Formats: sequence, structure tokens, C-alpha cells
Amino acid sequence: METLLRQSRAVCPFLKKTSASTLRALSTSSSSHASGIAGGKMSNLQILARRCPIMGKAMAVQSARNGLNSVSSRIGGVSAGGVKSVTQGRSYVVPTRAANLQNSRKMEAMASSFEDVHMKAGVFDTTKGICPHGAAAMKAAKAAADLAAAAEHKPTVLSKTADGTKAKFDYEGFYYNELDKKHKDKSYRYFNNINRLAKEFPRAHMATPEEKVTVWCSNDYLGMGKNKHVLQTMHKTLDTYGAGAGGTRNISGHNQHAVGLEQTLAKLHSKQAALVFSSCYVANDATLATLGSKLPNCVILSDSMNHASMIQGIRHSGAKKMVFKHNDLVDLEMKLASLPPEVPKIIAFESVYSMCGSVGPIKEICDLADKYGAITFLDEVHAVGMYGPAGAGVAEHLDFEAHLAGKPRGTIMDRIDIITGTLGKAYGCVGGYIAGSSLLVDAIRSLAPGFIFTTSLPPAVMAGAKTAIEYQMTYSGDRRMQQIHTRQVKEELDSRDIPVIPNPSHIIPLLVGNAELAKKASDRLLDVHGIYVQAINYPTVPVGQERLRITPTPGHTAHFQEHLLEALEDVWTTLAIPRTSDWAAKGGHVGVGVPNPEKPDSIWTDEQLGLQETEKDLAQINMEEKALADMIMENIAANQNIEKELSADAMMQTGVHIAAAASFEAAKAVEISA
Ligand SMILES: Cc1ncc(COP(=O)(O)O)c(C=O)c1O
Repeated sequence: METLLRQSRAVCPFLKKTSASTLRALSTSSSSHASGIAGGKMSNLQILARRCPIMGKAMAVQSARNGLNSVSSRIGGVSAGGVKSVTQGRSYVVPTRAANLQNSRKMEAMASSFEDVHMKAGVFDTTKGICPHGAAAMKAAKAAADLAAAAEHKPTVLSKTADGTKAKFDYEGFYYNELDKKHKDKSYRYFNNINRLAKEFPRAHMATPEEKVTVWCSNDYLGMGKNKHVLQTMHKTLDTYGAGAGGTRNISGHNQHAVGLEQTLAKLHSKQAALVFSSCYVANDATLATLGSKLPNCVILSDSMNHASMIQGIRHSGAKKMVFKHNDLVDLEMKLASLPPEVPKIIAFESVYSMCGSVGPIKEICDLADKYGAITFLDEVHAVGMYGPAGAGVAEHLDFEAHLAGKPRGTIMDRIDIITGTLGKAYGCVGGYIAGSSLLVDAIRSLAPGFIFTTSLPPAVMAGAKTAIEYQMTYSGDRRMQQIHTRQVKEELDSRDIPVIPNPSHIIPLLVGNAELAKKASDRLLDVHGIYVQAINYPTVPVGQERLRITPTPGHTAHFQEHLLEALEDVWTTLAIPRTSDWAAKGGHVGVGVPNPEKPDSIWTDEQLGLQETEKDLAQINMEEKALADMIMENIAANQNIEKELSADAMMQTGVHIAAAASFEAAKAVEISA
């Protein structure tokens, strides 16, 4: 572009004496009445250019050529000279004879306009193409058009090459423009090179092993990605069965690891069956797309804060979608009531909403589903491993005692029709799944392209995930410790006037309220303090609600917490980020600084965490923490001994799981005999 402009300036006195900024301004402003070379709006620069004796004629030639080109493409890719052009090789439009006749007349007229222009300019031999001054002027005209297109962020799809032939689609230009939009609205994503160290959790190194940082935003909530039982299983499986699954589930990718993992998942959720996918994004997308497209006239009612995977699944289903306000039962009921009883309905929602930490009203949604004949689709991605006596999620947690006693029938989890979860967050591996009735699972297995046509997860991953689930089913110390650390950090932040978006879960969203500031805060934490917390910007959260999302783990003990709190204090002060009291002065924002705030009850009660006897001061909690840590070590050692004596399947029959498994089997036996 710059070269072209330089060349054009050498021949054009107007371009020569006009500054680049004036040219840019002229090329971006346009008249709504004039139409340009490609038939679109003309820029003011093009309008001026038309008045120039050389440019004006060159532009006329250019538009005559455009006409020729569009004619030639319409008549099947044969150029004026009768040569089939490469770019226009494929034409699926068969021209009529009459159209051909008309076009050839048009071409004759246009060819004579070439002659006219050149005759008048004193150039008589047009057989060698356009004359030199005309070519330069045409280049200048193109530069003006390109400038205008670039300024409007449109790909120069319809522009011409220097010799006047139609240009091919500018793919790179298209990508550039799309990315430019993201830079401009500050939603462009920057990735940090973070290498989490299995032996130094929650530490990681950046590009080089010397650049150590502490990770405070991982979704490996419980540190299971480095759990020694998981790693041992994975090493063993990898050595025995190799790296990959070798195919789809249909073609050699179905194996004992898939079978074992699905059985474990079914038991975890006390469902008849489960199905594993390559991720929960795929599980949500494939399941909703399949159900929504197969159930006749299905309507999907979706919480307004649902994850992209569900939104995509609903879109792919083609089913009618009704979005209800986040966690708003009145709005949901109004929408359900507006639908005829015989219409199949799916209510799709989450237990823990990961960006704000809010929790879905699961029981109440089950009640509405029963009342209006809907089925429930619950995404427990951010809750599995984290809540409930066996780590099955919030639905399990709501009937803590019943599940602890191994009595899942009639519980809220039992009432949910489809539970989806991930193996990639609290279970530290990768993969996703659904759990539900045998018939539902078989239907999705048989119908969902997202399950059928993709390579199965590697055996080592499936075996590792199974061990992670089993470990969390028998031992709850990790998730309890995670909750205690979350409480400690939230309380300290509150006392420092650093704004936490209130919620009852394990997520700590810090309100920043500005995309640029959130990125700067994240950068300063990393560059100055060696702490990694990613900034969360639009479109993940609405504009004006940008935040830092902190996720403590059992490994974030007191000295890591002190480091984080001091670093946040510095970042908030240095960057002058609004504090809770600043938001309060404005009447509050996203629940921060609202008048008379109600402190949400956390999902884990003090009693469930073993805190009921404690004073809530830090020293006391730290003592409790130490006691819990001792318990962790004892439990891990005990598990190691058990592991030596029992097979993996027999291990499943220990602890909390004995009762759950027994009652599940009993219930299944009743169902089968009935
Ligand atoms: C609510 C929710 N559902 C589904 C997913 C997708 O899970 P996965 O990472 O297994 O693809 C995510 C991922 O972040 C999520 O937040």
C-alpha cells in the first residue's frame, strides 16, 4: 500500500502535495450519493479523483473493466480474450443465449470506451494494455479505494489487482480485520506460557524453568493433576496400552478403560449409565443438539448465564430456545406455563456458574420441571469433585446426609434427568460426560455425531480420570481444604476493602469493571509479584463487569495466601482500581457495595467442614487446617496400603461408596424385577 502510494505521488501533483493524514481523512469520509469502483459508496477522495483529468479517465476505464470482468464471470469464466481465467474457473450459472448476446454487445461498447479514453489522451496503441500514465493513475485510484476499505475494516474482497483483473478473496486480510475488531473492543485474548509443576503445586514456570510463578486461577481445583495415585495409574496404563485410543468408540477405541470409567461415573451420580466424550464442551453440545433436534417440536429453556457449550448445542439443535433470567424461577415458570403440556421441554442450567460463583436453584427447578412436564439438564462442570460427600456435585451436596448414608433414591440428584460433568477440572485430567437413564445414554451413544465420529480418549487418560474420581469418592479432605482456603481468602479480601463479587461457592471473582484495567492488574500481578491470575473480559463476562477470577486450591496454604493478599493490595493501590467502598458510594455494582448486603450462605456448612466448634479467627482456622492436613497424610497413607491389598474394583467398595453402590444395585434390581 505504501509503495503504491509513493508511486502514485510521483505522477500525481495532487497526491504529492496532500499529507497522508488528509488523504486518510478523505478516503474514510464518503458521500452517500456517489457510488464507487466496486459499486459501493464512494469516498471523498474518489470523488475528488474523478475530477482529475487523468484519474477521472482512469477510473472510468477501471469501472469499464469491472463491468467486463463481471460480465466475463457471468458468462462462465471466459475472459474478454476468450481465455478461461484460473480464479473464475468454476461457474455454476448456465447463461441463456439472450444474455450472451446482450453481454457481447456490452463488451463491444466497453472496448470502444477504452479506445475513446486513450484517443483523447493522445495514446493510440491500446493493444499492449493500458497506457503508462493511466496505469499509474489507476494504481492511485486503487490505493484510495484500499485506504477506504482498510479504514472501514472491510476485507478488500472486491478489489482489483494492478493489471485490472479481479482479485481473489483476501483471506489474510479478512483474518486481520476480524482480529483488529477484537483488539479495538479489548476482547483480544493474550495467553500466558504457564507450565504447572507436578512436584511443586501450585507453582509453575513460565518460558524458562527459572521464571517461577504461583498459579491462582487454575481449574485443577483440587490438584488432582499431580495426585500420585492418578499419576501411577496413568504411567502404568501408558506403558501397557500406549499413547492413543486408536480410533472412535466404534472402530477399536472402545476398551476396558472406557467401560470402567463410565461405570464409575454412573455410580458417582447414582444413575443407570454414563457416556464419556472428549470434553464436556462436546458432551453438552452433542447432547443438547441431538435431543433438541430429535424430540418433536422440542423447546429448550436455557439460563441466561449458561456456558457457551450449551448455547452452541441449543443452536445446533435448531430447536426453539427460551432464555430465562439467571436463576429466576418466576421467569422460568412464566415461560414453562406458556408452552402446551404435550410439547417436550428441556430446562438447561448449571449448578456453579464459574465466572461469578452463583449457584442454580436445583431443587426448585426440579419442582418446576415436574409441574410442567420438562426434563432437566444440569451442568455440574465446576462442582464435580468439589461438593457432596462423594464429590458428585451440588445436587448431591443438597442431600448430604442421605448420600452419606447411601440412600440416593428420591434425592435431588436422583430427580435430575441428565447430569453433565468434566474430567478436566477438579479431576485434573481431560474429558467430559453425561449421566442419566440407560435409554437416554444409549440414545445419545447411537445418535450424537459429537460422540460417534471422533477418536476416543487415550486409555491412560480414562484410567487416570477413573482413579481421580474414585479417590475423591473415598476422601473428602481436598475439597474441604479447598473450601477453607476460599473462605480465608474471601474474608481477608473483605477486610481490605478489595471487591469480591459475593457468592456461596469456591470461586473468588474480584470486580475490576474495566477491560484494560483488568489486563493491567493481571500483568502487574505476574510481572511484579510472580502471581498468575488471568483477567476475565468480554465476551466471557459483560462489558463493565471485567474481573480477576481467583481459585484457591488445597495447596494454597497460609504463606501463599499472604503473598497473594499483599500483591493484590499493591495492584489495587497502584492502578487505583475501585474498592468495595468506591462501588458502595455509587450504589453498588454486580452485588459489590450494594446497600445492606446479604452474605450468601456457603454451600459447605461449618459443620460439614468440621468448623462448627471453632472461633472464626485465623489462628483457630489455621489450627484446624493443620489437623486436616495431618488427616490428609494419614488418609493417603491408608489408601496406599489398601491399594496394595485390594484391586481397583474392590477399592470402590470402601468408605462412603459401599452404601451408595449397594443401594444403587438394590434399586436397580428392583427396577429390573419390576
Ligand atoms: C459450565 C461449563 N460447562 C462446560 C464446560 C466445558 O468443559 P470442558 O472443559 O470439559 O470442555 C466448561 C468449561 O470451562 C464450563 O465452564
